[in-house]
Amino acid sequence: MKFFLDTANLDQIREAQSLGVIDGVTTNPSLMAKEGIKGEASILKHYIDICNIVDGDVSAEVISTDYEGMIREGEKLAALHPQIVVKIPVIKDGIKAIKYLSSKGIRTNCTLVFTAGQALLAAKAGATYVSPFVGRLDDISHDGMELIGQIVDMFNYYEMGTQVLAASIRSTLHIIKCIEMGADVATCPLEPILGLLKHPLTDSGLKKFLEDYHKVNG
Ligand code: E4P
Repeated sequence: MKFFLDTANLDQIREAQSLGVIDGVTTNPSLMAKEGIKGEASILKHYIDICNIVDGDVSAEVISTDYEGMIREGEKLAALHPQIVVKIPVIKDGIKAIKYLSSKGIRTNCTLVFTAGQALLAAKAGATYVSPFVGRLDDISHDGMELIGQIVDMFNYYEMGTQVLAASIRSTLHIIKCIEMGADVATCPLEPILGLLKHPLTDSGLKKFLEDYHKVNG
């Protein structure tokens, strides 16, 4: 399973990249705003900065909601850097825009997916990734992880090439469940990924190894 970092924070991206286990980055307008990135020129420059830090796909989201606007923005974003994947919301014009962009060889990530039906439409339009939001479903007492399983099964059954990018992943347990469900990618902040390292037997085992070494080596 691939890991994308779900942030627009350059320091966090640098730290994750230095670990050597990050396969890309996802951003959204809220994450960009959180970092204080505003104005078209700064936003576009920020995407290039991210691409220059990380190896792999970098999702950059359109803010238009009409077909022409999404196409215009999508082509501009894709021209920024070969690593850019254009992130498009799963609305009617968004599906049309995904179809158009994919016909031009521009890769897309269909975002704000909350049902298998939405994922099916995005995949039929040629999306490279679909992003079902696990945490936001959990927030309203729906099992977000169940949706990941449904979409993975559907894409496997119909042999669809679209990748399942589990988004709104907020905990280490979410990551483990994504592995069990067969998600292609999980996107989350760095903290839940670092949580995978935690085990008390690792800590106590390492402590004992070092104590034994120092007993005989001083
Ligand atoms: C997906 O790409 C989104 O950027 C993100 O995962 C949303 O996460 P949140 O629900 O924690 O805001």
